[in-house]
Amino acid sequence: MTGVNDLIDRPTEELPSPAVLIDLPTLRRNIAEMAKLADGFDVALRPHWKTSKCAEVGRLQLEAGAVGLTAATAAEVEALVVAGFEDVFWAYPPVGPHRIATALRAARQARLIVGVDSLASAEPLAEAAAAAGLTIEVRLEVDTGLGRTGVDPDEALDIAWRLAHTPGLVLEGVFTHEGHVQGVGADPERRTELGTAAGRLLAEVAERMRSDGLEIPSVSVGSTAGARSAPSVAGVTEARPGTYVYGDENQVAIGTIDPADTAMTVLSRVISTERGETVLVDAGIKAMSSDGSMHGDGRIGTVVSGSDGVSDGEGVLATGHEEHGFLRGSSPKRVGELIRIRPNHACGLTNMHSHVFAVENGVVVDIWPVLGRY
Ligand SMILES: Cc1ncc(COP(=O)(O)O)c(C=O)c1O
Repeated sequence: MTGVNDLIDRPTEELPSPAVLIDLPTLRRNIAEMAKLADGFDVALRPHWKTSKCAEVGRLQLEAGAVGLTAATAAEVEALVVAGFEDVFWAYPPVGPHRIATALRAARQARLIVGVDSLASAEPLAEAAAAAGLTIEVRLEVDTGLGRTGVDPDEALDIAWRLAHTPGLVLEGVFTHEGHVQGVGADPERRTELGTAAGRLLAEVAERMRSDGLEIPSVSVGSTAGARSAPSVAGVTEARPGTYVYGDENQVAIGTIDPADTAMTVLSRVISTERGETVLVDAGIKAMSSDGSMHGDGRIGTVVSGSDGVSDGEGVLATGHEEHGFLRGSSPKRVGELIRIRPNHACGLTNMHSHVFAVENGVVVDIWPVLGRY
């Protein structure tokens, strides 16, 4: 954006809207807290970078002790390597020529570990790596309950053996994304139960492999909702939470993140009050993303208010068109008035924007490009 750097040192009220604000003190606190939690469990921390896609955030995470970062897309892997990050786990099947080419390029410049869940997804990468004279580290994904990618735990040993003996690959470990822990919603006991069970299942699978003669250095779990349970299990060696770094309304809704620990909001202006109690603002679907709400009421964002900028009670973005948000349940508003909105899902929101504004005490202190968007 032309002249965007002129906005550094300016109060947030002067920003063009909609604009993504990242509260720097909250961000730093979230990073420090998760580093402390991982330390307490004696596991390595490898945050999922898709939440921020900002090199600056990744560097803060590494400074706080993270061993490396996790990525989902080829564009994220490319961006991380170009930005100089040296240890990347690509937690996504390397299917298709573009992903194989990205993996080979990245593996020449950095330590790259690639997630696979079948021989079919691993063999083309193995062949390309062997032909290029490279050996690529792979982790086998195990489904511990989410029901997305990941091999059935009972079939993991057989596939691990084959991977370990495939030229061009070296089996580095096992991993899971225990996303089903978030799915149970606001039930802390059930979350702990499922997170612990996921960690236990993965550690058992790794133990079976070791008993069979395979070396399995890494046993990696990863999610924000499961961050207090899955990595606490003996045998788990690594945690990969992502959303924690910014926090979002869906984590607030289920009670895994306190509203005061959400660093990300969207600054928006009231553009019309012609619809009476429903007020129109300039943050619609293209600003907020269309990620669903765990409140179950279809909202696309939650308005925050108060001097701390985090307390609730100022209404919700009930729905949106592309550039129009429909604000309901708020106090009367004037055209031009500013509001701040907490997104349902931080990672989805990040991918909608080309940059974010790092702010402290209501002043812009830095502007961070969002890298590696599709
Ligand atoms: C493979 C993998 N690991 C880790 C994470 C991080 O989870 P969360 O964003 O809940 O912290 C995700 C998120 O989707 C993921 O897909």
